[in-house]
Amino acid sequence: MISGEGPRGAIWCAAAFRLPFGEVAAYFPPHFQQMPTVFIKTYGCQMNERDSEAVAAQLVARGYSIAGEESGADVVLLNTCSVRDLAEQKALGKMQALVGQARKRETGQVFGYLGCMAQSRGAELTQGTDGVQLVVGTQKFHRTGEHLDALLAGRETVVVDTAEESGSQSRLADHPLPGAVSGRRQVSAFVSIMQGCNQHCTFCIVPFTRGGERSRTIPEIVAECRELVARGVREITLLGQIVTSYGRREYPPEGGRSGFVQLLDAVHAIEGLERIRFTSPHPKGYGEDLVEAYGRLPKLVESAHLPLQSGSDRILKAMHRGYTRDRFEAIIGRLRAVKPRMGITTDIIVGFPGETEEDFGETMSLCRAVEFDNAFVFKYSPRRDTPAATMAGALPEEVIEDRHRRLLDTINEIGKRRYEALVGRDMSILVEGISRRNPARYEGRTRCNKIVVFAGAPRHVGQVMDVRIDRVGTFTLYGDPAVVGLGEREVGLGESDVVVETASLKG
Ligand code: SAH
Ligand code: F3S
Repeated sequence: MISGEGPRGAIWCAAAFRLPFGEVAAYFPPHFQQMPTVFIKTYGCQMNERDSEAVAAQLVARGYSIAGEESGADVVLLNTCSVRDLAEQKALGKMQALVGQARKRETGQVFGYLGCMAQSRGAELTQGTDGVQLVVGTQKFHRTGEHLDALLAGRETVVVDTAEESGSQSRLADHPLPGAVSGRRQVSAFVSIMQGCNQHCTFCIVPFTRGGERSRTIPEIVAECRELVARGVREITLLGQIVTSYGRREYPPEGGRSGFVQLLDAVHAIEGLERIRFTSPHPKGYGEDLVEAYGRLPKLVESAHLPLQSGSDRILKAMHRGYTRDRFEAIIGRLRAVKPRMGITTDIIVGFPGETEEDFGETMSLCRAVEFDNAFVFKYSPRRDTPAATMAGALPEEVIEDRHRRLLDTINEIGKRRYEALVGRDMSILVEGISRRNPARYEGRTRCNKIVVFAGAPRHVGQVMDVRIDRVGTFTLYGDPAVVGLGEREVGLGESDVVVETASLKG
């Protein structure tokens, strides 16, 4: 039996294990003494992480096992990102190295690309790097298993599957059983609520790689969340490329609440769920209903990743962002009026075509005015088929480099100050497991998305507990389990209001 007894049957996969040879033979040629092992490497955003997790669960359900490293795995899949050229180059370089080694050692491994770059480059990926046999686009993740079966059994030699498929946003509901893939108890889970984006920001390739907006239904999403909670998950992050546009066609506003806020209400009602997060929203989607939801829904944590992109109205217009600098500042003001110590992070692009020193100065001044807790700062990267790629005014690399460094310095200086202000405070954390920074410690996340490393124990995992912050690292807090009644605590505010925090940002 390869799938467990979850309410929806096969979505809950048995822990990674190998079928005996007799059962393998039905699918694979005799040289597979055991079911093949698969290593999946993920590039890019949380949506990609979630897609990889769903593919892993799907493969485990078919009897494959998930390898912890690439060497020795029968199949290596790279789940790719196309948002910047650098991300594509990393995956292409990695694949070249993998294929080269496999050829030298005659390992007979099967290699494949999944996701955004697979979608945008398609069949060309099987041509340059002799050895890539599988290319699976963003609407076909759910077919990875059957394509691999066909390749490994020799029924196919190359599979490129990048077609559009209606309803594909609902075909990725699989989650691995706790411990089946990572070995870590899953305290926090991602749930994809929609695919695609219709905004067409002029710099962005996502509408091409992920397609137009397609939302799942509220009952479908709630059922997935409920099952996760029944498995011990306490925090859910709702994912999508533009979550604030969730259900725009399917769920018209009701009582002034958008489809997205209706979804938040429905997920909030799940008993046993402790925290709700979401990413990424679009600033234009922060209507009164969403701002008000932070005050109304205690499980909705006080954390917002609000992509700014630029502080200059001229550049925002050229980017087709749909808001002005003033409107962005007003949203932050309204959020902080409801939750004064809300953690706010952002994405910023420097070096968009035609960005003058004055435009850049506007971005710097807005960052100083708003005081983000942290930010991803990106150098503009021209992407194929996007309007910005052919705009006049491309900037020299050294100008982009210089602005990137100056903005990062500013973001780091502000972030450091905001983190340091937390020393001595008691903060409520949800303990996620052994620290990824220091395996002798545990780590948890504050409501506003800051990682706290502390001396914990296995019994703390999945618990919400108070930790007193005693020092600050680079965008990390260090603490001790708090002694109740000692130290500073701001009585009368929600527990989240005691903290100012940020995501553990990559990039
Ligand atoms: N809404 C999406 C955005 C995906 S892209 C999400 O869910 O995150 C993530 C970030 O990458 C964007 O917010 C933008 O800051 C940056 N980005 C997108 N296209 C870019 C480009 N061509 N060059 C540089 N940065 C880019
Ligand atoms: Fe990209 Fe803009 Fe959508 S950044 S994902 S086109 S909101």
